[in-house]
Amino acid sequence: MVATPVVSPDSVKDYYESLKPFWHPVMPAAELNDVPVAHADLLDTPLAITRLNGELVALSDVCRHFQAQLSLGAVRRVEGHGECLMCPYHGWTYTNDGRCVDIPQMMPGRTIPESARVDSYRVQEMYGLIWVCLADEPARDIPHLPNLGAPGFLPGPLRTYAPWVSSAPRVIMAALDDTHGAWVHNGLVGDRSHPEPPDHRVSRNGWDLVVDFTMWQPNNATIADDEARETLREVAITTTVGIPNTIHFTIRALDSDERVTLIWQAVCPAQYNRTLIFWGSARNYDLDQPAWDPEFEKLQDTLREQDRCVVESQKPWLLPPFWTKVELPMRPADLPLIEYQRWLQELGIVTDI
Ligand code: FES
Ligand code: FE
Repeated sequence: MVATPVVSPDSVKDYYESLKPFWHPVMPAAELNDVPVAHADLLDTPLAITRLNGELVALSDVCRHFQAQLSLGAVRRVEGHGECLMCPYHGWTYTNDGRCVDIPQMMPGRTIPESARVDSYRVQEMYGLIWVCLADEPARDIPHLPNLGAPGFLPGPLRTYAPWVSSAPRVIMAALDDTHGAWVHNGLVGDRSHPEPPDHRVSRNGWDLVVDFTMWQPNNATIADDEARETLREVAITTTVGIPNTIHFTIRALDSDERVTLIWQAVCPAQYNRTLIFWGSARNYDLDQPAWDPEFEKLQDTLREQDRCVVESQKPWLLPPFWTKVELPMRPADLPLIEYQRWLQELGIVTDI
């Protein structure tokens, strides 16, 4: 038996460094509608997210003076600089590029030292989320996600799931894994009488890993629909992983009504063992039944909860490299997972343990 390895501090550090050149979602943009400044964690880096002079800003959430949390502060105007972010402790105030431009306690005639600054990071708003890149130069653009508001589609609400105690790759792999449905989600989106692996085709397309397959799923669209659960329908699924941390699905029913469901999931590696999930969906059917949405959401919440229990049980939280033989992926059933992990290893995201 192979013992479960312990993740070393060095491998955690390597994991964070390897993910820094990518854009990561850190919070729904709507959160800034309620508060002027919000806190987020990304790769163990605390962030203060705010809007200053109409511009989205991501600063280190650690004041240069005595380390207080800037996100507990407020936005205030400083002459010549417009809106700035003020620390709650002694009022040191920072511009959108992290420069301190006001120290209320400073004696007249003294100038603010050059070192009085905090790090500022690249930040963008897309798909209803705020994305941050901690590196100077991003390795790639924010991954493409399907337009949930496309003509003929009814988008569901953006959902945020509380952090799972696991790493981002394990959370993405739980969604990419197309053979667990018969076991973890039997009667919902999988069927125990069809445990055979799909005939998946896996390919790389730019920065995306694309998987096509067909499978049988219970005919129910909602968790409440017990009658429909008794029958099965064949669906064609295209799964696209935006390396490293987004995944989206186009699920097309192969019977006459051509129902299409779009789902995307983008995950935030807050820490190596703490991963937030942002989740969006849309459908091109039952457009006149908005009352159906809560049932659909209940189904999705149930599926996420079923997955969470299993994923949090997987140790170590960071993926062990293939060479350790800690895990035993099987071909062809686990081909999408093998190809995803292979890509992450090439990027150094799967590190020694
Ligand atoms: Fe921020 Fe003192 S700790 S102003
Ligand atoms: Fe699942």
